[in-house]
Amino acid sequence: MRSRLRLRPPRRAAAPRRAVLQLVLATTSVVAGLGLYELSASAAGTKVSPYAWQLPKGYPQPRVPKDNPMNAAKVDVGRWLFYDRRLSGNATQSCSSCHLPARAFTDGGAQSVGSTGERTPRSSPTLVNVAYNATFAWANPGLVSLERQMEVPLFGTGPTELGITDANRAKVLKRITDDPVYARWFRRAFPGLKRPITWTTIIRSIAAFQRSIVSASSRYDQYLKGKVKLTPAETRGQQLFMGEKAECHHCHGTFIFNEQVSYVGVPVERPRFHNTGLYNIGGTGALPEASQGLFEVTGRMQDMGRFRAPTLRNIELTAPYMHDGSIPTLEAVIDHYANGGRVITEGPFAGDGRASPFKDPLIAPIDLSRAERADLVAFLKTLTDRTVAVNPRFADPFRKRAAAAGRGPAATGRRAAGGR
Ligand code: HEC
Ligand code: HEC
Repeated sequence: MRSRLRLRPPRRAAAPRRAVLQLVLATTSVVAGLGLYELSASAAGTKVSPYAWQLPKGYPQPRVPKDNPMNAAKVDVGRWLFYDRRLSGNATQSCSSCHLPARAFTDGGAQSVGSTGERTPRSSPTLVNVAYNATFAWANPGLVSLERQMEVPLFGTGPTELGITDANRAKVLKRITDDPVYARWFRRAFPGLKRPITWTTIIRSIAAFQRSIVSASSRYDQYLKGKVKLTPAETRGQQLFMGEKAECHHCHGTFIFNEQVSYVGVPVERPRFHNTGLYNIGGTGALPEASQGLFEVTGRMQDMGRFRAPTLRNIELTAPYMHDGSIPTLEAVIDHYANGGRVITEGPFAGDGRASPFKDPLIAPIDLSRAERADLVAFLKTLTDRTVAVNPRFADPFRKRAAAAGRGPAATGRRAAGGR
């Protein structure tokens, strides 16, 4: 099966430039591949043991697409691929270049830099508990599966991230198919498939790995289990967060502290997006052209600057903040909310965000003392889960294998990529 990709013309003329991802896996080849898989898997009577989720207590089971069931071998191969730099046009970057476990799978930049040096307009979001997101990316209601999302970093050109193009796609795939260890592992991950390594199975493996990145071992979780007590400051911060004075919970009120979650048994609601008054360029309500939120997808003025309320778990580790990383610290984020928007006094983006015509009505000045602001920050820091960075299930396998060179895709992956 040849994995062919083609560009789809933008959906709406009004939807600007990079808007949504315009790539689509050629349906014919995907469908053909799938049929083959299902047929031969059942013909051979191959049984894949059910995946053992390691979910925190009380966490629901993530949604999994019917055509990409979880299995341990698939998650494992996905983890290798996530960290494998051969999976970029010029073999310099992997997914992990912009999603580092030590930073809760973000990269610490306001923007990220792709494999050819281009900058992304938005900041790299955390991938911890990403399986529960109802939509993916900062403001894209149409992007509802991890499989589809992945076409952006792999094949997208607005901007180039991993830089896999028509010209190098076969070469990149060959780096993976030529690795005997990958060949063996893909056969285990996709039993019965005649050609187990294709772009479809690569994408499915990495998506399965991402769904496995579920974690909730923060102080707050310990507190919920009755194992630790929050400090008085943290408790006051929690009350502010959950209360009607600061109103944070209205948009960050789920178990992962975002606005909308989706999981087995819960139908996906219509996604919501908000303008938090970050910009109001020249009093027009506009945001910098590089990133204007839902407006980029719909072309409707009232969607200007509307973004998804992201998870606040691990927020201490994921600075700088907001879609464009334009707020450096948590203290400054709280000031932003307390002021009911941001005032930019000079430069090309000058304007009073508090007066933005597109601002959400819930974003209004909050009378917060200095102590209360510090309490809110203290509460947000209870959401930090330090186990993510050291959990071997999520870790870079190439690092571990560097010592035991010679085995696994590690050996070749490292050499090809020149080390991490
Ligand atoms: C050059 C940096 C870069 C690389 C490489 C990269 N990403 Fe990202 N990733 C980003 C940025 C920036 C965003 C935010 C995109 C947006 O909202 O416009 C993002 C968003 C995401 C999201 C959406 C998360 C959410 O909460 O909605 C997922 C999932 C994701 N990336 C997975 C991957 C995978 C898998 C790979 C490898 C195939 C990858 N990324 C490679 C920078 C990168
Ligand atoms: C009306 C809905 C809404 C309310 C109320 C709200 N937020 Fe947000 N929050 C958002 C949205 C939307 C974003 C992303 C905005 C952007 O990137 O432009 C966000 C972003 C954040 C971020 C940065 C996240 C990141 O990954 O960069 C933090 C921290 C945050 N909010 C904390 C709070 C706190 C604390 C409160 C209460 C004082 C609060 N929010 C109230 C919608 C809301």
